[in-house]
Amino acid sequence: MSEAPVITFDGPSATGKGTIAGRVAENLGYHLLDSGALYRVLALASHRRKIDPRNGAAMAALAPELPVEFLPDGGIRLQEEDVSIAIRTGLVDELASRIAALPEVRKALLPWQRDFRRQPGLIAEGRDMGAVVFSDATVKFFLTASVEVRANRRHKQLIDKGLGARLPDLLRDLQARDRRDEQRSISPLRSASDAIEIDTSQSSIEQVVDLVMRSIAAKRGG
Ligand code: DC
Repeated sequence: MSEAPVITFDGPSATGKGTIAGRVAENLGYHLLDSGALYRVLALASHRRKIDPRNGAAMAALAPELPVEFLPDGGIRLQEEDVSIAIRTGLVDELASRIAALPEVRKALLPWQRDFRRQPGLIAEGRDMGAVVFSDATVKFFLTASVEVRANRRHKQLIDKGLGARLPDLLRDLQARDRRDEQRSISPLRSASDAIEIDTSQSSIEQVVDLVMRSIAAKRGG
């Protein structure tokens, strides 16, 4: 059988990527990979094991043996513990972004990410899904939004989850993470040359999902 089709969504955090990728996966009946969650789980697990975040070799060794489960309802379990909230704290934001810059970590996560590719298809969401991990994807999207809009969205998300957050801190942290994600030497955040770019600053989730579904249909038709 030929390989399952993949559709990728890349871009900085809080562009609506996760929600949009989830809706599109549901519409198409495809599997979903939130690759950022893999970096986050690894960050959390390594922190708990007191591994030095600069030690790429130790991080890479830990990755394949992590007992992680991605549940159909979006929950994430690490050794029977629900870590869905624990991987979204400021500490893990920061740590995940740091370890994502380590070449050994990116290499160790490659086979893990590609393992999610299954019939009838996969929606893969992250930073380098279209450019590196699934460079043969059928359709690639790159979502952007202004940093102010993204900070406001992240603020609302955290408040809705019952986690405290200050808007100026979020803005500053997003800017720092953008810089790190864009400037790292390996797989920097960058749009694949064949990706469709969508600025979501002024659009609702529904509008973007609609545009994405039309683009996928056009690509399949043509
Ligand atoms: O999308 P997110 O905020 O959950 O991602 C967490 C961190 O992982 C973020 O700093 C960027 C990094 N990441 C990455 O480098 N490559 C990916 N494919 C996904 C996430």
